[in-house]
Amino acid sequence: MGDSQVFTSVKSLQKRLHTDRKNSSIGLFPTMGALHHGHIALVKQAMEENDVVVVSIFVNPTQFNNPDDLEKYPRMLEKDIELLNEVGDVIVFAPDVEAVYPDDFEKLNIDLGKLGETMEGEFRPGHFDGVMNVVKRFFDIVKPNRAYFGMKDYQQAAVIKHMVKETNDPVEVVVCDIVREETGLASSSRNVRLSEKQKEEALIISQTLNFLKSIAGKYLPIEACGKAKQFFKDGKLELEYLETIHPVTLKRLETKWVPGAHACIVAYSGEVRLLDNIQLIPFVEK
Ligand code: PAF
Repeated sequence: MGDSQVFTSVKSLQKRLHTDRKNSSIGLFPTMGALHHGHIALVKQAMEENDVVVVSIFVNPTQFNNPDDLEKYPRMLEKDIELLNEVGDVIVFAPDVEAVYPDDFEKLNIDLGKLGETMEGEFRPGHFDGVMNVVKRFFDIVKPNRAYFGMKDYQQAAVIKHMVKETNDPVEVVVCDIVREETGLASSSRNVRLSEKQKEEALIISQTLNFLKSIAGKYLPIEACGKAKQFFKDGKLELEYLETIHPVTLKRLETKWVPGAHACIVAYSGEVRLLDNIQLIPFVEK
């Protein structure tokens, strides 16, 4: 059982980290809270790889383009801290909006090019601008040696890596595997908003991805994608997008597969937006 220290002000957190920094490596795991066992797996990895781990918990308003989604995003700080205490001692940084975005906050403007135009960039305009700015702000506050992100947000991880390259931040970006429920549903903070029936119906998302993987290479990407989309014909979930993409540039693949080809999907169960992804083709063909 740990006894995590909770900081809400930038100054007090930095004072605490100042002492740690001398001989220790610092790992940062930025989150929006509502922690689940997927987050906990990342915290454990960060604890193995660093002397000190900071978990930030902040529902970042600037990355929500839908006010209703922001309002309904689950918030449960006390429960989150209890869960973290079960893992061990971490430093929790739970600031309010004013602490993250002070009056003299300088917005970062980075051209994401094609990385930001498709998928989340297309359906959630301004989303990555908000993500990049809040992550950069946490990097500046914590100055971590490593920062941890989940693979479930595949495009987000690509955007963060791009940002780190552009800003020359001396931080190693570690992208951790997707953690799934036993059923195959990707763990997500949004899952708490699903009923048991919706959770069962949502399995169609991982089933679609697995089906797509099983036929990738046998058909052209555009054909394989078309066949996989049929899974949503019954209308229980509303498919927002299913894309077969290049693993690094994220450009849509239509007529040619490449090593590492990936698929990303977003579907709505009622009002709840669920995303997932899978590698379709290995990097080194066997
Ligand atoms: O992945 C998330 O939970 C958020 O986008 C992040 C990285 C914590 C930034 O608010």
